Amino acid sequence: MRVYFIGAGPGAADLITLRGARILNNTLMVLYAGSLVPPDILIHCHNNAQLINTASLSLPQQLEYFKQAKAENIDVARLHSGDPAIYGAISEQIKQLQEFNIDFEIIPGVSSFTAAAASINCELTKPNVSQSIILTRISGRASKIKESESLENLAKHQATMCIFLSGSQLPIIITTLLKSYASDTPIALVYKVSTNEEKKHISTLENILSEINIADWVLTTMLLVGDVLRSDLNFASCLYSINYSHKYRNAKGRSHE
Ligand SMILES: C[S@@+](CC[C@H](N)C(=O)[O-])C[C@H]1O[C@@H](n2cnc3c(N)ncnc32)[C@H](O)[C@@H]1O
Repeated sequence: MRVYFIGAGPGAADLITLRGARILNNTLMVLYAGSLVPPDILIHCHNNAQLINTASLSLPQQLEYFKQAKAENIDVARLHSGDPAIYGAISEQIKQLQEFNIDFEIIPGVSSFTAAAASINCELTKPNVSQSIILTRISGRASKIKESESLENLAKHQATMCIFLSGSQLPIIITTLLKSYASDTPIALVYKVSTNEEKKHISTLENILSEINIADWVLTTMLLVGDVLRSDLNFASCLYSINYSHKYRNAKGRSHE
């Protein structure tokens, strides 16, 4: 018997991995966070699977299901939105599984930040623009952020930023970012990416608040910020340059570097 933590992806039923879908199809007990995992993804589940929405369950209540599955010797699929390693709250579940000697495995998924980047046709790392991505959130009731990781401190890097779980605090986020980023730095809001409710808005830090209704972006919104979102940048990586040689390609008239 094993518990599979499966990344469900950002929402579209075909953005789960083949491995995740195969396990869902073979598992008779499925726990999913109904507040975030869209119902579409459940089409991969076995017809006879018991589907348990964990939205209203405490950790001990979830553990009871894991223990029941162990007693019945059946595998469990525990679905998490996006990739389970990012704000998935899987650590506390894993700790409990270990205490009860229950085997587990993590199946990665497509995170909402890469799905949002795809939706706005953007590479998040561009040569000479930003080669670093900061995945962060601002403090919430359930999880406080250390001062060293405050948005204000992280913004000083002026790297590409992907901000999770923070749609309800857009005004304070924008004010904080403007302390380090230029006022014309692009920002994209992407709501429920890859679902049929997806919507997106791209603007600049100085203008965005006057262009949107904040209430529309409170839940399930990804914020992408940084110069990599600029459409007017002139840059190129060495990798595909005709003058750049590497192990698999010789540049015209140049020896291998
Ligand atoms: C608890 S976190 C889970 C993140 C998830 N593990 C991931 O890798 O995307 C929930 C936050 O992820 C972001 N998110 C998750 N799914 C999303 C989607 N389909 N569209 C936009 N943002 C999403 C939102 O910022 C949301 O508040």
